[in-house]
Amino acid sequence: MSALRRAGVLGWPIEHSLSPVIHGLWLKRFGIAGRYERVAVEPERFAAETLRLLQEQGWRGMNVTAPHKEAAVRVVDRLDAAAERIGAVNTVVACADGRVEGRNTDLYGFRRNLETAAGWERVGRRAAVVIGAGGASRAVVCALLDLGFKEVRILNRTVEKARALRDDLSVKEGMRLAPLSMDWAAPAMEGADLLVNTTSLGMTGRGPLDLPLDPLPREAFVTDIVYAPLETDLLTRARARGHAVVDGLGMLLHQAVPGFEAWFEPPEPPAVDAELRAAVLAAMPG
Ligand code: ATR
Repeated sequence: MSALRRAGVLGWPIEHSLSPVIHGLWLKRFGIAGRYERVAVEPERFAAETLRLLQEQGWRGMNVTAPHKEAAVRVVDRLDAAAERIGAVNTVVACADGRVEGRNTDLYGFRRNLETAAGWERVGRRAAVVIGAGGASRAVVCALLDLGFKEVRILNRTVEKARALRDDLSVKEGMRLAPLSMDWAAPAMEGADLLVNTTSLGMTGRGPLDLPLDPLPREAFVTDIVYAPLETDLLTRARARGHAVVDGLGMLLHQAVPGFEAWFEPPEPPAVDAELRAAVLAAMPG
């Protein structure tokens, strides 16, 4: 194996990915001889390209982003528990035993972003409201169950998708997933401790999430997985009502940690800190 440790991120399109900024800063900080690259891969070429990079180019692994996260489940030899549960892979690792493992660190990233946010220790665990039932929602719902929320109310424009998500996930005794249509948004927010947007609404170029916050208790925490813009319309409105809010950038930064550790083997875990945040913000368009 060459001394240069290689990894990267595969997606289609991929030019806006901020992951090279994150890994690049950490490589420099640790003085590790490594390279992390963006690779644009069309869906038809995804499996072959992944194997080529691992087997012929000696890559230690890669991040996988849209639209390949589900396809990656079928390319790897085995899955970690999170990838199995979520049905999607965002991190591929060439293991020492010669096998290729698919992992999902989105759940970890979302969870760490909440746990390290100011005011999180005061948040209750009665109920959480999750907007959306797509791929990102699955990771968020699993994280909320792991965090001990008794009830997770999944609101989605297409209620069947929220039901399918409920049916797919196993839930411990005493916990409950409640799929609901958006018509139930107001009653769903009553008594909630946390509101999460997992849709792409609010992102630059998309419409805002049109969701009146009046029924949400003032002590509820509000977070968005959208991070461009950093302060979405949802977060601005929540802040104006006095809610504690946390933006979605931290999820992106924290989800990168396990991959970096696996591929580049730093002497200690890479830090998610103000310098990293500033570097990523500076690289964001607009
Ligand atoms: P993913 O979560 O897999 O990244 P996405 O396209 O960003 O995918 O978002 C999917 C989620 O956003 C879904 O819950 C979707 O609702 P539907 O299941 O009804 O399609 C939701 N979503 C996307 N656009 C929306 C809109 N204009 N209004 C309401 N919900 C929307």
